[in-house]
Amino acid sequence: MRTQIVAGNWKMNKTFQEADDLVNELVEFIETNKAAHRAMIICPPALYLELATDMARDTELYVGAQNLSQFEKGAYTGEISAPMLASMEVEYSIIGHSERRKYFGENDEMLAAKVRMALKHKIDPIFCCGELLVERESGKHLDVVKSQLDNTVFKLDPVEFGNIMIAYEPVWAIGTGKNATPAQAQEMHAYIRKLISEKFNDQIADNTTILYGGSCNAANAKELFSNPDVDGGLIGGASLIAEDFIKIFQALK
Ligand code: PGA
Repeated sequence: MRTQIVAGNWKMNKTFQEADDLVNELVEFIETNKAAHRAMIICPPALYLELATDMARDTELYVGAQNLSQFEKGAYTGEISAPMLASMEVEYSIIGHSERRKYFGENDEMLAAKVRMALKHKIDPIFCCGELLVERESGKHLDVVKSQLDNTVFKLDPVEFGNIMIAYEPVWAIGTGKNATPAQAQEMHAYIRKLISEKFNDQIADNTTILYGGSCNAANAKELFSNPDVDGGLIGGASLIAEDFIKIFQALK
C-alpha cells in the first residue's frame, strides 16, 4: 500500500511558544500511536524548523519547509536554500503552493527549478497543483492541472519522480471552508494517477502519494480519504490545533 500521509501547512501562523507547544503535542501523540504505512509531516514557518527538527529527531514526526529557493546560494536577500534546509535535517518541502503562485509570482519555470534544487539536496517535494474557480466552472480543471504537471514534475526522469508527492489543492477550496466533494477529489486524483502512468509507468503511478488539500478538516477527512486515489491530505487551518490534526491523521486509511 502507498504511504498515507497528512502534512500540516502552518503557513504564517504561531509564535515560538505556540509552535513549541504544538510540536510537543504531536510528538507525544505519534510516539504512542505508531502506524505502519501512515506518516505525519509538519511544515512550520522556516524560523521554527530547527525547533521542529530538534523535537522530532528520532520520532515518527517528519518536518518539511513551506518553500525553498530555486537558487543554491548567494545574493538572494531573504531567501532560504535547499542546502540550508538539508543541513537542518529538513526532509520535505512544499513547492508551488497556490499562495506562492498568487502572491509571490511563482510560475512553472521557477517551480521546475525549485523541484530540481530540492531533489539535488535530497529534500522530497510536496508539489502542489490545482485550478481556480473560473477554470473549474469553465470545465478546464483537468487541462489546467495537466499543464501544471507537464511544465514541472513531468520533466523529471522516472527515478527523480519517485521522490515526488503531489498535493491536489483546488484554489477555490483553500481556506474557504468549501472543500471539494469526495467525488471531485477522486476524479482529479484518478486523473493525475493516469497521467503519471502515461508519462512514466503503472508502478510509479501506483506508488505515488497524492494528497488532497483545501478545507480538509476533522469532520470531512474520513470521507475524502476513503477514496481509492486520495492518499491523505495537505492541511492548512486544521493543522494548527493538535487535536484536529490528530483526528485527521486518524482518518487515514
Ligand atoms: P486549508 O489550506 O486547509 O486552510 O484550506 C490548505 C492549504 O493551503 O494547503
